[in-house]
Amino acid sequence: MQMQGKKIVLGVTGSIAAYKAALLVRLLVKEGATVQVVMTECAKEFITPLTLSTLSGRPVLSEFFSSSSGAWNSHVDLGLWADAMIIAPATASTIGKMASGVADNLLVTTYLSMKAPVVVAPAMDLDMYAHPSTQRNLDVLRSYGNHIIEPASGELASHLSGKGRMEEPCNIVSMLKDFFFGNSALKGKKILITAGPTYEKIDPVRFIGNYSSGKMGFAIADECAKQGADVTLVAGPVSLATPHPSIKRIDVESALQMHDAAVEAFESCDAAVLSAAVADYRPAVQCDRKIKRTSENMNIELEANPDIAARLGSMKRDGQLLVGFALETNDAEQNARLKLEKKNLDFIVLNSLADKGAGFAVDTNKVTIIDKEGASSYPLKSKKDVARDVVAHLSKMLLMLLLILLPCSVQAQELNATVALNTTKIQGTNTEAFTVLKDALTEFINNHKWTEYDYEEYERIACNFTFIVDSYSDDGSFTCTLMVQATRPVFGTTYSSMLFKYEDRGIKFSYQPYDRLEFNEDNLENNLTAVIAFYSYMIIGMDMDSMGELGGADFLNKAQNIANNAQNLGDSGWRAGSSDNNRYAVIDDYMNGAMEPLRRLMYRYHRLGLDTMFKNADGGRKVITECIGMLKEAYENRPLAYITKLFTEYKQEELVNIYSNEGGEDEKKAVTEILTEINPSLSDSWNKIQNSSFR
Ligand code: CTP
Repeated sequence: MQMQGKKIVLGVTGSIAAYKAALLVRLLVKEGATVQVVMTECAKEFITPLTLSTLSGRPVLSEFFSSSSGAWNSHVDLGLWADAMIIAPATASTIGKMASGVADNLLVTTYLSMKAPVVVAPAMDLDMYAHPSTQRNLDVLRSYGNHIIEPASGELASHLSGKGRMEEPCNIVSMLKDFFFGNSALKGKKILITAGPTYEKIDPVRFIGNYSSGKMGFAIADECAKQGADVTLVAGPVSLATPHPSIKRIDVESALQMHDAAVEAFESCDAAVLSAAVADYRPAVQCDRKIKRTSENMNIELEANPDIAARLGSMKRDGQLLVGFALETNDAEQNARLKLEKKNLDFIVLNSLADKGAGFAVDTNKVTIIDKEGASSYPLKSKKDVARDVVAHLSKMLLMLLLILLPCSVQAQELNATVALNTTKIQGTNTEAFTVLKDALTEFINNHKWTEYDYEEYERIACNFTFIVDSYSDDGSFTCTLMVQATRPVFGTTYSSMLFKYEDRGIKFSYQPYDRLEFNEDNLENNLTAVIAFYSYMIIGMDMDSMGELGGADFLNKAQNIANNAQNLGDSGWRAGSSDNNRYAVIDDYMNGAMEPLRRLMYRYHRLGLDTMFKNADGGRKVITECIGMLKEAYENRPLAYITKLFTEYKQEELVNIYSNEGGEDEKKAVTEILTEINPSLSDSWNKIQNSSFR
């Protein structure tokens, strides 16, 4: 285990997401790490120190002096002791204090004393997160070398929806492992780097060149190689030794040669970093013989060289990353952004000649890294340190790609579920059993191997199972409502799209603390695990349908079998007779041949529609419009099916958003009509689609 024996300080601050700290501690401890929790006073309002000390097996620290013994809780010692510090959740206030060094609590003093890498996982409301003050503070932390785990988008405690949700603990743990404990996202990745100047030959003894030393590109190549990447370094004429033995170096002289070498290598690469100072022009004629001085004036006609970055940008496939450099003298950020767009780069490293100590011949550099999300400015550093920052940004983006770029061919996808148990309806009863049940359910859903595929943590499907306990009796029997929902990522973005959302009422089951939750497909004994297995298979199947046309059939069949075989569990919710929108009917509808257009729609909607929409809004939206046509077809095939209506319910908000910004009037009208026909109860929303065209 990579984290075995590692010492981690976990800082917990006062956010509603503090409850996630419990799971984070558990996961870290499970990985073999020793966890020392430091919490702010305010965090105690959200989660008790007792919970965290029980889970970590160590007293939680929050005061400068121990109230029992009076001993000093030394933040200095903690700073030396730790292998890493994670602040999760990090509130806007703590982030601000960290950025400006306001050391008025043990957490911030520990941070200021920390010698180990620091990871910050913000959690706050979307407007607070987006506020320039928070963003500036996060940039400051980045410039200190701290790693920020961007919050995810989704429903927030405020009931608003947007960016601000703390990243899920299991993702934080896997990022931690990748960043700090030797499993860099770059390991085994093929990276192309161009470096140095190009020389454009005039005659056998003269050329047009520039002052680029190649140091920046060589430092990046070195850093990538150190992190286990398979590096190809295409170097212009420089006087530098290959910095790492594993680097494959191709020496070139001219822009044309660099172009050919880079194009050939990029094909099989995961990323390219283009740091070379490529000459934009070359002499139109290159003389074979030395040009003699014959007249007072001489003109050399120049012709354009290919733009290597732009060429690679046009070749770039999904899953490949392209990084450029921009050296600017004026309107630096604006010019760099133009290059980012024009050359189809994922991020660009800007250095301005106006900055002292930055640029060509020196060993230092001062850069701003700009991507589609924003810009981060770093202080003046050695080129080696700048290389580390650039490579850290590259690995972060590669990791994000891994997290969001689920395989196109259907492969292993299992569940990354959050389980919530809401016991407010049975207040006054002893709810201790539910605390244990929540953990048991989480474990059951997330650790059960639902498919025979090999899967990675990042491939898991995000889903929530919320149980609202309606009644409970002492013999351990419950009735509850289960709200289940699943999402899948929209590739290339941080957004996710709802795959399925359903409310299942009146589930009866019984549970005594520490009962084993077991599931046997051939012998359904327990209503609770059968219900969970049913939804798990359904979610996996629907997700696979969205990854490849009808790709989820096997898993949807499993869900259907459970629904067919579960009658003897004596729960009315399984059988069609009781209601036409119970779980039995939902899966039966979905698997009915008449619903094929709806199942095919899942693929077109997500893979071809949403996934391309962020690149090409018009094209993506047109696919979605076709999908609404397919929805109508499914509806007409089977007008009484509940699943078509259900689809309109969980896609309601997304559809309104898609068409609110753009779309032709006819298109909007057609979509509004279909959706209103299928689900007239949501006509207010559908009218928003149509009306938006008359703005
Ligand atoms: N670049 C390239 N091939 C070229 C020119 C530039 O690959 N023929 C790459 C550089 O390696 C760098 C990025 O493009 O990563 C930007 O280089 P820069 O010279 O600043 O951009 P140009 O497009 O040449 O713009 P200009 O010189 O007009 O500022």
